[in-house]
Amino acid sequence: MARPVNVTVTGAAGQIGYALLFRIASGQLLGKDTPVRLRLLEITPALKAAEGTAMELADCAFPLLDGIDITDDAKTAFDGVNVALLVGARPRTKGMERGDLLAANGGIFKPQGEAINAGAAEDVRVLVVGNPANTNALIAQSHAPDVPAERFTAMTRLDHNRALSQLATKLGVSVSEITKMTIWGNHSATQYPDLFHAQVGGKTAAEAVNDQEWLAGNFIPTVAKRGAAIIEARGASSAASAANAAIDHIYDWVNGTPEGDWTSMAVPSDGSYGVPEGLISSFPVVCKDGKYEIVQGLEIDEFSRGLIDASVRELAEERDAVRELGLI
Ligand code: NAD
Ligand code: LMR
Repeated sequence: MARPVNVTVTGAAGQIGYALLFRIASGQLLGKDTPVRLRLLEITPALKAAEGTAMELADCAFPLLDGIDITDDAKTAFDGVNVALLVGARPRTKGMERGDLLAANGGIFKPQGEAINAGAAEDVRVLVVGNPANTNALIAQSHAPDVPAERFTAMTRLDHNRALSQLATKLGVSVSEITKMTIWGNHSATQYPDLFHAQVGGKTAAEAVNDQEWLAGNFIPTVAKRGAAIIEARGASSAASAANAAIDHIYDWVNGTPEGDWTSMAVPSDGSYGVPEGLISSFPVVCKDGKYEIVQGLEIDEFSRGLIDASVRELAEERDAVRELGLI
């Protein structure tokens, strides 16, 4: 049996944590041959709830689960970590301004970045799920100067999967018939789900749909505002689908994207497609041999350009705001 991989989950007692941990322990994150050791990081008042989840994990008798550590100390949680899933974040509460939200999250992601810098394994991969995910990833990354910047990513896979599902329903096809979906930009309502490069039945998805009004007036806003629609319907933000997307993100990063396809990940920009270097923005990426690469050479028409630029502008504003707060 291979050596266990250390997987740290923050916000482990939250609702995404509950939907995520059992899937990790069952082998869905890294594969059926890879044992995992789970590290659960929580704030002190939630440690007891995390212990309850750990009891349930034990009761599943997962053969791949090598052990569980529970802590409220970031240094302990990230010591030797190979895969870090940063889920716990400060939600926006009534009367909270955007700056307050960014500051509160800075208080979480700065020390976590420092702890990753201090103790992570050489091959560490970081996925930030907690919102605002792209900017929280930027904060953590900027406090981990010894870790290669490209190891810090944020999650837009849920948006990607939502786009696949909406398109499949519209065309009456299976999601497995669609390839090369892309989410560009921020995990927010400004994101741009792109049908001009997605492929279905030998055509671009935009050609297959052949309905610009649906594309611009229905598809894009439905995908971009799906998170808010779930909150409205459930009274709580998406949890199982978010956990599923986190599993997909890490699984593909480690094991590779299928031949002839790509996926969407928010990764530090290298300047591709005019996205300012360093912003953690969503791109089409191909994963191979445990690494990802931004897909190059796609033609971007004027419609797409405007929408990508708007989302990237929002990311730049968030970066400027956290810079002003001294968080990066
Ligand atoms: P939740 O409130 O149920 O759980 C969050 C947990 O994080 C809580 O248990 C809390 O105690 C913990 N926490 C807070 N500060 C912490 C810290 N410093 N260290 C460790 N743990 C800490 O929330 P949830 O529904 O699980 O969602 C978690 C985050 O994921 C939210 O920010 C949510 O907006 C975000 N989210 C992102 C996506 C995405 O696609 N990127 C999708 C859904 C939700
Ligand atoms: C989602 O996309 O479902 C979440 O990011 C929504 C949220 O604000 O938690």
